[in-house]
Amino acid sequence: MITYSRVTKDDLKDIIEYYETYLNSGEAVRSSIRSAFEQGRYFGYKAMDQDTDKVAGYFTFQEGVLLTYPHADYERELEHATAHRRTVTVDALMVDRGYRARGIAKELARLNLEDLRSRGVELFCVEIWVYPDGSIPAKNVYEAMGKPIYHKLAADFYKDAHTFGISCPICGTHCKCGALLEVIRI
Ligand SMILES: CC(C)(COP(=O)(O)OP(=O)(O)OC[C@H]1O[C@@H](n2cnc3c(N)ncnc32)[C@H](O)[C@@H]1OP(=O)(O)O)[C@@H](O)C(=O)NCCC(=O)NCCS
Ligand SMILES: [Zn+2]
Repeated sequence: MITYSRVTKDDLKDIIEYYETYLNSGEAVRSSIRSAFEQGRYFGYKAMDQDTDKVAGYFTFQEGVLLTYPHADYERELEHATAHRRTVTVDALMVDRGYRARGIAKELARLNLEDLRSRGVELFCVEIWVYPDGSIPAKNVYEAMGKPIYHKLAADFYKDAHTFGISCPICGTHCKCGALLEVIRI
């Protein structure tokens, strides 16, 4: 049976391990998650398999507007789109390979939406991962969460990630993935 609960400080090590398996890896990634936790700017939900006591997935946020690494042009646009409104950013959406296509991401999204609304959050930013083959596995999850008020396909979004010590689980050092940058009104 899968159960859902909030992430806590005790999840930090496992979140980083998951992140480096399924999303990006590198010291920049680790320190961003660590410092957000330390400053109380990190929150979200996890899915647990009660039978194995193993985490099946995470969907987490950080306070504010932030990108995997600096992009002055997009940052300006995001700041404009989110001005004066309580905004958070998706940190990670990742479901263990063995647990996919069972509605876990959708349930994590539903719980987060309730929580975001109760915190008074109006908008969230997200870099929706576009794989090198053009597929966007998380698209439906985000589409169901609200209405995009900013939407931009950044095809070479991660091209300089390696200069920040960040690597990709699909491409390795030189990432050819893109991002659909969105600000979603919940
Ligand atoms: C994307 C991911 C989180 C989906 O998790 P999941 O628990 O399998 O998703 P769900 O079963 O809740 O399905 C959610 C929706 O996404 C769709 N979906 C799931 N996997 C998909 C895929 N590989 N390609 C296209 N659509 C997909 C489902 O059909 C469903 O849509 P629907 O309800 O409208 O039919 C998971 O594949 C994952 O962790 N991938 C690797 C990391 C990643 O890409 N994270 C997203 C970063 S932006
Ligand atoms: Zn890549």
